[in-house]
Amino acid sequence: MSARPAPTYLLGIDTSCDDTGVGIVERAPDGSVRVLANRVWSQTVHAQYGGVMPELASREHVERIDAVLEGALAEAGLTVRDLGAVAATSGPGLVGALLVGLMYGKGLAQALGVPFYAAHHLEGHIFAAASEADLRPPYLALVVSGGHTHLFDVPQDGEYVLVGATRDDAAGEAFDKIARLAGLGYPGGPAISEAARRGDPDAVPFKAPLQGQKGFDFSFSGLKTAALLAHRAGARPEDLAAGFERAAVRFLVGTTLRAAQACGRATVVVSGGVAANRALREAFAQSGVQAVFPGSGLNTDNGAMIALAAAAALGAGRPPSPLSEGAVAYAPLANA
Ligand SMILES: Nc1ncnc2c1ncn2[C@@H]1O[C@H](COP(=O)(O)OP(=O)(O)OP(=O)(O)O)[C@@H](O)[C@H]1O
Ligand SMILES: [Mg+2]
Repeated sequence: MSARPAPTYLLGIDTSCDDTGVGIVERAPDGSVRVLANRVWSQTVHAQYGGVMPELASREHVERIDAVLEGALAEAGLTVRDLGAVAATSGPGLVGALLVGLMYGKGLAQALGVPFYAAHHLEGHIFAAASEADLRPPYLALVVSGGHTHLFDVPQDGEYVLVGATRDDAAGEAFDKIARLAGLGYPGGPAISEAARRGDPDAVPFKAPLQGQKGFDFSFSGLKTAALLAHRAGARPEDLAAGFERAAVRFLVGTTLRAAQACGRATVVVSGGVAANRALREAFAQSGVQAVFPGSGLNTDNGAMIALAAAAALGAGRPPSPLSEGAVAYAPLANA
């Protein structure tokens, strides 16, 4: 009797900013993938400064990464010896923070004698949706996170054509800033979403941004100014939240649908932290396109999405990365 081909267990590490993420993905011989573990340590040390302190982030990654890896292995019921490949984010992100996960991953891969894959953080966000569907190009990808609001056309595996991007703030950044302004706490996305349920979206006027544009760019500065003026005029935080969330969702969905039509794509992958937003998910569900979102816990930064990106690279026959691969702060996914 011949033995059944064994699955490959891929470890993914993301330390690009202030989350220490380690995930484990099982890739079956038929190419299907399953997330076995997803552990994230979210650093709280930065709260007192009102923003991420890069040096403190690096130090905390060093202190926490062993424990996060142990937790992920325990969750998956595996030991390091079971790992068939190791992947880590090489960029974009905070260089010092990236270096911790990248060096850790390379060291582990070398010690175990398994291939190492350096992953692009945004490709990781996109492949987080592979936990829910077989992600086969062509599709359109909206990465909507704390640092990006980017639309990519993905005509074939590994090819990313930038078709639109924010001209100012990222959507997640706007959620965070408006939540802070309205005293709703941090992170702003979930706080705005929660407050919006109790608010009246018609109480504060929010004009749709970039009306009439032919392209597919985003801008959130006008919505931020409208929120500031309404706040100064005494608007209720719940009403600000409801009005802003509705305007942001309409803008994101409307622009993405126009781009999908222009590129001739029937499937849209929506990923990054803001993809956790319930109103955004509902609006896409009613839009007529096939919208694919990451599974629970895979929207914001995590290691499982990096393992999923590596599983796709492995499936596409891309060669492993050299151990000389370095960390890069700025790394566009597409040069268009
Ligand atoms: N339910 C939600 N609704 C809207 N925004 C949300 C929600 N949950 C999280 N967010 C937002 O997601 C952002 C964090 O996402 P993520 O971790 O993907 O970003 P990042 O890693 O900081 O940025 P990038 O990946 O672009 O470098 C925050 O701005 C947060 O407010
Ligand atoms: Mg991210």
